[in-house]
Amino acid sequence: MNISQLQQDILKLKKEKDVCILAHSYQAREICEIADFTGDSYKLSVDATKVGSKTILLCGVRFMAETCKILSPDKTVILSAPSAGCDMADQMDKATVAKIKESCPDYTVVAYVNTTADLKTICDVCVTSSSAVKIVKNIENKNILFIPDCNLGSHVAAMCPEKNIKLLNGGCPIHAGVTADEARAAKALYPDAELLVHPECVPAVCEQADYIGSTSGIIDYAQKSDKKEFIIGTEISIAEHLQYMCPDKKFHVLSLKLICPHMKATTLMDVYNCLNGNGGEEIILDDNTINAARRCIDEMIRLGG
Ligand code: 13P
Ligand code: SF4
Repeated sequence: MNISQLQQDILKLKKEKDVCILAHSYQAREICEIADFTGDSYKLSVDATKVGSKTILLCGVRFMAETCKILSPDKTVILSAPSAGCDMADQMDKATVAKIKESCPDYTVVAYVNTTADLKTICDVCVTSSSAVKIVKNIENKNILFIPDCNLGSHVAAMCPEKNIKLLNGGCPIHAGVTADEARAAKALYPDAELLVHPECVPAVCEQADYIGSTSGIIDYAQKSDKKEFIIGTEISIAEHLQYMCPDKKFHVLSLKLICPHMKATTLMDVYNCLNGNGGEEIILDDNTINAARRCIDEMIRLGG
């Protein structure tokens, strides 16, 4: 069996079984190629509301599959790799945040979508990296408690000086592991390249960037730019995808530490096995969780649209 044969089998199976495949942009190229929808977490959330099939197979991480289930409770939602969590989403639970909320009752609680469905039930509005600035600007309240990512939160605070933003101590260990010295070294090594980074990187890295944006934002920027060389400061898959999309341009990875093991957990064979009922995990959420968490995801789509 080779990759293209396996892809053909998957395309046939998903048609027969009425399954729609959603793949996050960090997934491998061979998975993105057979997906019905690909994109950043905001785009996938919106795409999930348009799916006609009775089953959604989410190739990405658990909070993304939970978001799909919340938006499409009547559909069967399968997460391609049961081990694919998110280190940031696992950092904060409902009890911890409920306690913090008590100390700032007049704050609107803004949750990065990289949170569990359970935690979303006590938050006011979700944001993603591509929609955070717009949504925070559109919130009437000046006082914002932004959870859990203090790096994305710092970026939002810098872009929304009119807001009073309280941050907690969370973040993505993979993006936050890149240092300002690594960014300086990469820029010195590739002086003609533009540095494009994800806002989950620390402020000292973001300050050196030519562009800060979501995974889809970085892809769009690099595709449309007249520049020929880029340093990519997000999960290494984005540099790989871009190299295929724009073979006449040159893409360097900012750091070889930028590998998310959760996003790498799904293989094309896993996708095939899931379609045959031999793998993956069905996402089960109770009605109370779905209804309460849905409020803040609907708010995200309303304020971000
Ligand atoms: P995006 O919102 O850019 O898709 O990012 C999701 C993520 O998990 C980044 O680490
Ligand atoms: Fe979570 Fe970080 Fe992986 Fe994104 S890169 S899914 S934030 S652990």
